[in-house]
Amino acid sequence: MSAGSGRTAGAVGADGGATPRVQRPPAEVRYADELARLRAEDTAERPPGWALSLQAARRFILGDERAGIRRKFVGDPSLIDRALVTLATSRGLMLVGEPGTAKSLLSELLAAAVSGDSTLTIQGGAATTEDQIKYSWNYALLVAEGPSRRSLVPAPLLRGMAEGRVVRFEEITRCPLEVQDCLLSPLSDRVLALPELTGDDAMVFAQEGFNIIATANTRDRGVNDMSSALKRRFNFETVFPIADFDTELTLVVAEAGELLRRSGVTVEPRRDVLEVLVTAFRELRIGQTSRGDAMERLSAVMSTAEAVSVAHAVGLRGWFLRGEPGTAADLVSCLAGTAAKDNPDDLARLRRYLEQQASRHAGGQWKELHTARHLLPG
Ligand SMILES: Nc1ncnc2c1ncn2[C@@H]1O[C@H](COP(=O)(O)OP(=O)(O)OP(=O)(O)O)[C@@H](O)[C@H]1O
Ligand SMILES: [Mg+2]
Repeated sequence: MSAGSGRTAGAVGADGGATPRVQRPPAEVRYADELARLRAEDTAERPPGWALSLQAARRFILGDERAGIRRKFVGDPSLIDRALVTLATSRGLMLVGEPGTAKSLLSELLAAAVSGDSTLTIQGGAATTEDQIKYSWNYALLVAEGPSRRSLVPAPLLRGMAEGRVVRFEEITRCPLEVQDCLLSPLSDRVLALPELTGDDAMVFAQEGFNIIATANTRDRGVNDMSSALKRRFNFETVFPIADFDTELTLVVAEAGELLRRSGVTVEPRRDVLEVLVTAFRELRIGQTSRGDAMERLSAVMSTAEAVSVAHAVGLRGWFLRGEPGTAADLVSCLAGTAAKDNPDDLARLRRYLEQQASRHAGGQWKELHTARHLLPG
């Protein structure tokens, strides 16, 4: 198939690209058919307010080949069991770990499995306010009618409590400490006070099914700063990077293939190129070659998530610039922006890696990586 005809079929559809398409629908939309099947076949006991039983939720996340359910998270199955059990208790779930270890993905999958909805999400940051977490007001109605349920604009926490659904709190440790602490009574007493309202309206009691999944990155301000009162209300689970090379490679091949298909690329990524990519990421991440020799590691994050996004970019370059799968030379062009960012020391380390280490590996794509080293900027 020629590059041109493949592009039209895969990327933009019959209307020539006029119909806008969601770039990344939430998990409950991406896997709607799997969730519907699991729900229809689910005969096990479910915790109150849950859309699926624990067994079905586990299969949704870890996959079930016989039932045609895709594996979405690669990791220790017992982590998933502990996470699900925590969500059925009165404690929140805190997922901590290195950047790019799929904490956000796991929290999205858990929320989709437990509540059928992963969109009640608060993105934590230095400027996050209590309004964005709990509720705010429609000022026109507030002025016209005073505070009332009608003039109240619920934010994810209030909605999750009132509707009995899981609320996701991303990067919680990036929020100011006093803002984090507004989760204390929702987590311990399962109630949210609305002091502006009166009577029955002044309290929102959490419905069955409500809980909170927070994520925190070990490279940001750590969980150590979090108040001990709040820490006690969460069960902590660490999400570790993928230890095994073959497992990481299989994941990168599958994820990059999926992203490329969604981007309209109709050729599969080359496995030998992705093998070079995953090996280079692992060596630069841990500061050791696959033969066991010490080498310089990069200070930039070289996570699996970054490897997937570079593999995507490599495939896009190959296809949209030349109409073929990406090669190791494309990898060199894509690496600078990921691995070196604005750090000149990392760029120098990366250059030394391409000069000294790439030539020691056998294989055509390693040779190409070495030959293309001059494509690094600077
Ligand atoms: N164990 C894993 N299972 C499945 N996908 C993984 C895994 N590790 C990394 N990934 C890849 O990383 C992507 C998810 O990264 P995600 O953003 O969830 O990481 P994160 O831990 O939240 O990172 P950050 O700390 O930067 O927020 C996935 O879409 C997938 O491509
Ligand atoms: Mg994240």
